Amino acid sequence: MEKPLVIVPGGLNTDIIGLGIDRLLAPGELTLGGELRIGPGGKARNMAQMAAAYLGKDTVAMIGRSSRDPFGLWEVPMRALEEAGVDTTNVKILDFAESGHTYPGIALIPVDKAGKNQIYVLPGVNADFCAADVDAAVSLFKARERKRILLMALEIPLETVRFCLDKAGTHGIPVILDPGGIDAPIDELLGERIFLLKPNEHEAAVMTGLSISGFDSAAAAADRLLERGVRNVLITHGSRGAYFFNDTARLHIPCPEVPDSGTHDETGCGDQVTALVAAAVAEGRRITEAVRLAVLAGTLQFHRAGIQPVTRAELEPYV
Ligand code: RIB
Repeated sequence: MEKPLVIVPGGLNTDIIGLGIDRLLAPGELTLGGELRIGPGGKARNMAQMAAAYLGKDTVAMIGRSSRDPFGLWEVPMRALEEAGVDTTNVKILDFAESGHTYPGIALIPVDKAGKNQIYVLPGVNADFCAADVDAAVSLFKARERKRILLMALEIPLETVRFCLDKAGTHGIPVILDPGGIDAPIDELLGERIFLLKPNEHEAAVMTGLSISGFDSAAAAADRLLERGVRNVLITHGSRGAYFFNDTARLHIPCPEVPDSGTHDETGCGDQVTALVAAAVAEGRRITEAVRLAVLAGTLQFHRAGIQPVTRAELEPYV
């Protein structure tokens, strides 16, 4: 049987991480300490690498933009994708001058000792990612012989997101959407074409106006999203795990017990969850099985510094 194909249009970042700082600061404050890590990032790009770490090589294709900046920062996310076996043919790398001296996407991420972070995304050339870039990759959408999933985050222009969703609709491809980082509702993007929506508790509150404190409030928020046509809703809630809802299932999935590596970093945990749902659905697992596996993967990711995708082999001892 043909391998599945997870199509991931979106942003690529280089993450500049300050790990193990004393505390997250208020405006105007300064703190001394912590350790620098530079690694691959970008929610969409992270999810592409994470899906490939589970599904294997030649199963994931990324569509995006970067620019050859003079410090070589662009190479970090590209190298990680290539090592994971993600098809990067449709990631357009512009010369720095051609990009108008625009830098690749950069994220500045302080992480405190408990693993809590702040993320400042400087979009750079991701802000120029456009419909024409997606059109240039239309052969991916047309690959009918493969089981296709469109996996999306929102760190690119909204009109490009809309274009991708329309294209998925035209080609009958289910969409998994991670609305990471939204600060306003995204009603125009929701509807039946969304197979699964994966907000965290903050994003679910932004989308519904309901604050999430546990299962009951998550259920109320999820009902509002399901009413808008979304077929499955998975709301992640930090150390409490996640809540899953569709027209037949209503589940609380706590974080499973995993060994404590001593490192705590919430960066990329949500991406890991969404990527694993997409990968597990792409390989034919039932959705309730996929979301449980995804919460396990997100929990393992919490014990790693920066983006270090969880592999299929690492999940096996737990299932
Ligand atoms: O979800 C974590 C990601 O958000 C980071 O990798 C950063 O680049 C931002 O996109």
